[in-house]
Amino acid sequence: SSMHDELEKLLDTTTGAEREVSKKDFEGFKNLFHRFLQVKGPSVEWIKIQRPPEDSIQPYDKIAARGLPDNVANSLNKLVVVKLNGGLGTSMGCKGPKSLISVRNENTFLDLTVQQIEHLNKTYNTDVPLVLMNSFNTDEDTKKILQKYTHHRVKIHTFNQSRYPRINKESLLPVSTNLRMTGQNAEGWYPPGHGDIYASFYNSGLLDQLIEQGKEYIFVSNIDNLGATVDLHILHHLVSQPNGKRCEFVMEVTDKTRADVKGGTLIQYEGKLRLLEIAQVPKAHVDEFKSVSKFKIFNTNNLWISLPAIKRLQEQNAMDMEIIVNPKTLDGGQNVIQLETAVGAAIKCFDNALGINVPRSRFLPVKTTSDLLLVMSNLYSLDAGSLNMSPKREFPTTPHVKLGSSFTKVQEYLIRFESIPDMLELDHLTVSGDVTFGKNVSLKGTVIIIANHGDRIDIPAGSMLENKIVSGNLRI
Ligand code: UTP
Repeated sequence: SSMHDELEKLLDTTTGAEREVSKKDFEGFKNLFHRFLQVKGPSVEWIKIQRPPEDSIQPYDKIAARGLPDNVANSLNKLVVVKLNGGLGTSMGCKGPKSLISVRNENTFLDLTVQQIEHLNKTYNTDVPLVLMNSFNTDEDTKKILQKYTHHRVKIHTFNQSRYPRINKESLLPVSTNLRMTGQNAEGWYPPGHGDIYASFYNSGLLDQLIEQGKEYIFVSNIDNLGATVDLHILHHLVSQPNGKRCEFVMEVTDKTRADVKGGTLIQYEGKLRLLEIAQVPKAHVDEFKSVSKFKIFNTNNLWISLPAIKRLQEQNAMDMEIIVNPKTLDGGQNVIQLETAVGAAIKCFDNALGINVPRSRFLPVKTTSDLLLVMSNLYSLDAGSLNMSPKREFPTTPHVKLGSSFTKVQEYLIRFESIPDMLELDHLTVSGDVTFGKNVSLKGTVIIIANHGDRIDIPAGSMLENKIVSGNLRI
């Protein structure tokens, strides 16, 4: 076919190792593209969706109530921690890997991850390794930084996910004419989503290597989820299942609030647990999907997956994930699509899959500077790389923070706060326009600060704002 010819032409633009890597990538891409062409209609029939059976999503407390054995180290030595590290910090105005953004006391996401695992290894005298799934966007910068952890008690491995060609929306042919990522060609390539982990991990050889070392489970999570720490109760639950009933996949879900209506949810479909993403929902049912009463939980993307099961499913070519078609417009105005998959979508392929409904604290993603403000504040304290909600906060809920567009970029956000305000008693903060905060400001209840176009509001050092609206020159 013409796709085949185009890919061959692309391969001919380079030689040696680069050609070999791309050849492997293209095998995966052809597979995905072929499946994409075969797809007819929506991936779920709405009427066939069922509520997951009672015991298929268990409350975390029930899992934890069983307690821990004395030999926690035995379980830990079967574990590998994997962080999804393919993404860039672009949406927060940063160049380079998102994991290298400082989030708390000069520590980056990656620093905190390393500290957490090192702490585990020291406490239990274990060797839990850290594996980073990098993309071509993040690999080089990440590897440079990894040198600083050589003397830490964590073995760090990396592998690269695939690099696939973006295709023109109409012709469905690759938009790039060269494998080299120079000039306009750079825009022609993308990392195909975190569902790529299964194939890339397997192809890298690292999966086999870890199985040979006796590792049984990976704990996978987004590197920007600061709540995704190794949970010993879930781990113990997994390794203590009787043979034959081994749970091969755990998805940590948590109760949905009105603020997280877009996250994927677990459904029962054709007798299996399945992840339902908003992209798969027919337009007529989107409101129903978003409702908190019908679909009560969402996927945190904290996943526990059996290594031998991944190997088996890869070798049987049975890792069947729904394709996400992600439309983009390139700088030159060309409309393209990129075909992606999500790691959680593979849940339906595994045996004895289970959802565990975990406390909200295990879902602490930093997607925006509003999230960053929360995790930098005195609402949390840092303990061996983990953030814990301060016991001084009366209700264990996080405030709703909405910083305006002058705060989007991390650099600009940082300049606007001389120090991070006291937020222990804050419920709601909205800031819009050109606003700065002096040292030691304290925010309580609901605070709204709006500087109109052309105005600037400087909140003086030491101010205490409680249930206040500050707007223009008018102070109420
Ligand atoms: P994103 O930040 O892109 O996704 O990636 P999201 O907005 O949370 O939503 P979902 O989870 O995609 O629905 C989440 C994590 O996955 C990594 C990112 O680095 C981040 O840690 N990621 C994403 C990859 O490693 N590779 C990819 O191709 C995409």
